[in-house]
Amino acid sequence: MPLVSMRQLLDQAARGGYGVGAFNVNNMEQIQGIMEAARETASPVIVQASRGARSYAGDRFLYHLMLAAAEEYPEIPVALHQDHGNCPETCISAIELGFTSVMMDGSLLEDGKTVADYEYNVQVTREVVRYAHARGVTVEGELGTLGGIEDGVGSGEVHLTDPDQAVDFVARTGIDALAVAIGTSHGAYKFSRRPDGQILAMHVIEEIHRRLPDTHLVMHGASSVPAALIDRINATGGKMRPAFGVPVQEIQLGIRHGVRKINVDTDGRLAITAAVREALVAKPEEFDPRHFTRAAREGMRQIVAERMRQFGQAGHAGDYQPRSLEQMRRFYEALEAAPVGAATAAA
Ligand code: G3H
Ligand code: 13P
Ligand code: ZN
Repeated sequence: MPLVSMRQLLDQAARGGYGVGAFNVNNMEQIQGIMEAARETASPVIVQASRGARSYAGDRFLYHLMLAAAEEYPEIPVALHQDHGNCPETCISAIELGFTSVMMDGSLLEDGKTVADYEYNVQVTREVVRYAHARGVTVEGELGTLGGIEDGVGSGEVHLTDPDQAVDFVARTGIDALAVAIGTSHGAYKFSRRPDGQILAMHVIEEIHRRLPDTHLVMHGASSVPAALIDRINATGGKMRPAFGVPVQEIQLGIRHGVRKINVDTDGRLAITAAVREALVAKPEEFDPRHFTRAAREGMRQIVAERMRQFGQAGHAGDYQPRSLEQMRRFYEALEAAPVGAATAAA
């Protein structure tokens, strides 16, 4: 099946009451690990690439790897999403390349570090929505900022999403999905202890979902950072500090309150690092790189399959006929003409 619209996946997930993992990729092994996990669990899935991933792999390599994934796994609905687009040009180039979904992260300025003002966010997000919807492509926006700075991305300041502003933002931009800031951050070192209600503002999600029941909510920084993976990395020569991520139960609570897209990058990185380290330590005489790249792919498959089951997307790959981007374009055109009511693209 061709790459599908993320909007349709999320509409369908809302109907079914489950979440869909959005897993970051940079290379073939990560893509294959995700697709194997999706086949094993019969899951629809979102594969996402950051700007860093696009420049690491090269746009055309990444895109053609995804086309291969869609051909090799025809039973799996898969959306290809631009993670953290820093300006309209990044989103437009992703759409021109063939991405079926983009994130315009106008919560930060183009440098990916400075907190942007609200009107700037509305303006750039609206611009991307116009361009994307005219081509049937889905748009995710972000309001509020995550904590932490990872690979130079992030302001280091936490600004929780304001529910009143979220209502205004969705109305003025027309986005399909809203990334909310609830105290998480990217990377492995999110919290110094297991997060409780003081640290993780789940009530913000509940409030926004109550006010915006038809907007798909997105949880960034949603890796759980399993202690077992950290232990395996350290047992094979790694040097990671103790780290705490977002407990899966909190993500499941979010899913009950409108979270439909769950961004996971770090858990895949940890699973791969643990698997590669173990493979190298177990056979120090081995010099065929397939020995450890195969381990990497298998590590990715295992963690992604686990998350797919936990998010509830498992078993839902065959629930519907994916619509083409042209059908989605007409869907948005009709929405613009008659913006009343909660039309969904899942039917
Ligand atoms: O936005 C954060 C994601 O984990 C992507 O990270 O920019 O290092 O590829 P990256
Ligand atoms: P993690 O670092 O928690 O995996 O978050 C990934 C993310 O939000 C990508 O946009
Ligand atoms: Zn993110």
